Amino acid sequence: MRDVVITGASSGIGRAVAEAFAPRRVRLFLVARRRELLQEVADRCLALGAEEVRFSPHDLSRPGEGTALIEEVLAAWGNIDLLICNAGYGYWGPMEELDPAAMRRMMEVNFHSVYESVYAVLPHMKGKGRGHLVFVGSVIGRRGMPFSAGYSASKFAVTGLAEALWGELRSAGIDVSLVCPGFTDTAFHDVASPEHRRIRPLQGQSPRKVAAAVLKAVDRRLQFVHLTFLGKLMIVSNRLSPRLTARMMALVARSQIAEKGAPAPEIRQETPRGRPDSPAVEAEETAGTGQRPEA
Ligand SMILES: NC(=O)c1ccc[n+]([C@@H]2O[C@H](COP(=O)([O-])OP(=O)(O)OC[C@H]3O[C@@H](n4cnc5c(N)ncnc54)[C@H](OP(=O)(O)O)[C@@H]3O)[C@@H](O)[C@H]2O)c1
Repeated sequence: MRDVVITGASSGIGRAVAEAFAPRRVRLFLVARRRELLQEVADRCLALGAEEVRFSPHDLSRPGEGTALIEEVLAAWGNIDLLICNAGYGYWGPMEELDPAAMRRMMEVNFHSVYESVYAVLPHMKGKGRGHLVFVGSVIGRRGMPFSAGYSASKFAVTGLAEALWGELRSAGIDVSLVCPGFTDTAFHDVASPEHRRIRPLQGQSPRKVAAAVLKAVDRRLQFVHLTFLGKLMIVSNRLSPRLTARMMALVARSQIAEKGAPAPEIRQETPRGRPDSPAVEAEETAGTGQRPEA
């Protein structure tokens, strides 16, 4: 595994994944919107041992960007071994307050950009007869979560894509892994529908734990990885009793969603700096690059 592309690499899980791959002396191509954070992650990855790090700001809510980023990497390196589709954000609240236009924008990032990137990279991977696609889904892309109807639906779409491709691409030498984090301490929870704040911040897992799961999925060519005790419990309990699970999840979700306009709680954050206010923030057009200084 030499040439690795990671979307959503400017913070949280994507950043942790980049930093976990760096000591393997890989070449990394990092994508997100915030250029200054991508630069910071690139510098860190070079310091950790990555052979080369390039980054390119893309706003994946724009149709065509998922394709454009793959074309950019192939133009630069002529090779992609591993594509990690991680960029995404949430959207909480009662269904009648989840605006369809905002849902459409979220689907562009959480699903359509993923679909586009996979569509664009497959001829390359099939041509060489190997490659690996990793999708960062969610445990609530396995069982719908009340007050997260739109977000859950977007992650179910990712689950469906991953499951279908796993069966379709194995004979072509291409591995597919779906990594489903449960609650993870990242800036994700500030971005997700800020007008519907969580009342009691739950103690989430570290993004480094998710990064370790991504590495394991790649090394062992795993089809599914589910994370957190509660996440795994939910999946097992849903198999045994979907009705009871739905009730329990409704109780938990209701206790976690504040009324619209309620003051923001103190939430432990991983990388809050520089977060754009809106998912539709303009991405800068110029790409960056870094070479690992020779020892
Ligand atoms: N945290 C959790 O509890 C949790 C649980 C289950 C699944 N997940 C999934 O894990 C993935 C990573 O989330 P995280 O927890 O690490 O949250 P995060 O820290 O907010 O990271 C989200 C990443 O996605 C990028 N992104 C968002 N909108 C984008 C856009 N329009 N164009 C390009 N990049 C965009 C962000 O970069 P820019 O803002 O710089 O563009 C950032 O790098 C997401 O797919 C999320 O659904 C998270």
